[in-house]
Amino acid sequence: MRDYDFSISADRSGANSEKWNEENIEGICGNRKALPFWVADMDLPTSDEIRKALEKEAERGVIGYREPRALIPAFISFMKERHGCDVDPQDVVFAQGMLHSIAMALNLFTKPGDRVLLPYPSYHPFIDMIVSNERVIVPYHLERIQTGFALDEEKFIRTAEGCDAILFCSPHNPTGIVFTEKELKTVLECASRLDIPVFCDEIHSDLAHPGYHHIPLYKASEGTKARCITFCAASKSFNIAGEHCAFALFRDRKMKEEYEKALRRLYLTSPGYSVSVMAENAYLHGIDYNTQLCAALERKFQRLESFIKENCPLIRPCAVHASFIAFLDCSALWGRVLEDKTAHPELYQGTYTMSHFFGQRGGICMNDGSWFGEEYAKYMRFNFGCGDDLLEKGLAGLKKAYDWIIDA
Ligand SMILES: Cc1ncc(COP(=O)(O)O)c(C=O)c1O
Repeated sequence: MRDYDFSISADRSGANSEKWNEENIEGICGNRKALPFWVADMDLPTSDEIRKALEKEAERGVIGYREPRALIPAFISFMKERHGCDVDPQDVVFAQGMLHSIAMALNLFTKPGDRVLLPYPSYHPFIDMIVSNERVIVPYHLERIQTGFALDEEKFIRTAEGCDAILFCSPHNPTGIVFTEKELKTVLECASRLDIPVFCDEIHSDLAHPGYHHIPLYKASEGTKARCITFCAASKSFNIAGEHCAFALFRDRKMKEEYEKALRRLYLTSPGYSVSVMAENAYLHGIDYNTQLCAALERKFQRLESFIKENCPLIRPCAVHASFIAFLDCSALWGRVLEDKTAHPELYQGTYTMSHFFGQRGGICMNDGSWFGEEYAKYMRFNFGCGDDLLEKGLAGLKKAYDWIIDA
């Protein structure tokens, strides 16, 4: 077994990275020189298997149409190995990217004016997607508990009444929750009883930290009547996030046929060359990489959590069960930040108040909580998927801003 070194960041200079683009950084936090801890891709190297496979293809010097048939068996074998989940090949469809595929399902299985239950805080594109497709958001606010957020089952059931669909995200972005089997059963029971579809984004599913067990909704729904579509992807699991690719797993064959027909109508039937090379190699050879990555992410989160506890005790990080994003509750700083904004409006020229505070006072760029819903403006999302050096710089920036506002 090969050992991967997740203590160092990959060199992204000259890579035209969205996350490191100074104009983008300035737009988020007002300071173009701030270090980026926002967009959800990692600065960590991707696996050797993927790199070597791409190099081999480049050396061949020809990029023609690639036979995609091997991709689905590769995905299925990974699902078995990683999640103990038996996927029937008849239930799987390759789809073009997570957001494309969910938007397609939303368009096919709901109609304008339909009410879509959406858990909050919510990854912003889901909010956009529902609104821009003229459906109506029915917000379900996850319960704030001591350690972070949780699904209050009774409240979820009440909120689902009268809804026409559920858009779920598991593990959850931005709170980092891995849902329990009981919580997933609640979602499935609601969907069965109300006979409404569930679209479940599981892009972060392969990154559950050791000790947490992600259950694919596809698996949990076995034997139920829930019309759920579970969307999986290699993007986050192997750090190839710029390569849009997804697999839609159907429990309902009629829905699958309709979905495939819609893909055919739009000629969205086959994956691009590089995505098929990357995903196939990742799924077939990437299990060690993925397992070690999960352990490294857990260590990085523990470092972040203990650093904050020691140095910025008024900031409360939500417990992260999966992936590389931490949702930080900065409510206790809010009043002081607003005073700073009033005293120095020139530093807060933009939409995001908290992002500007940390960008201007600490030199770090994070996603503002309000991007996940207006009610979360006092939170920040910190992407800790980076080398240890960079993480330390990010934490030092957090402390710099914190000390500044506490001493002000
Ligand atoms: C929950 C979630 N869904 C979807 C995406 C984007 O997926 P894709 O790039 O495949 O459309 C992200 C990216 O951050 C995400 O966090």
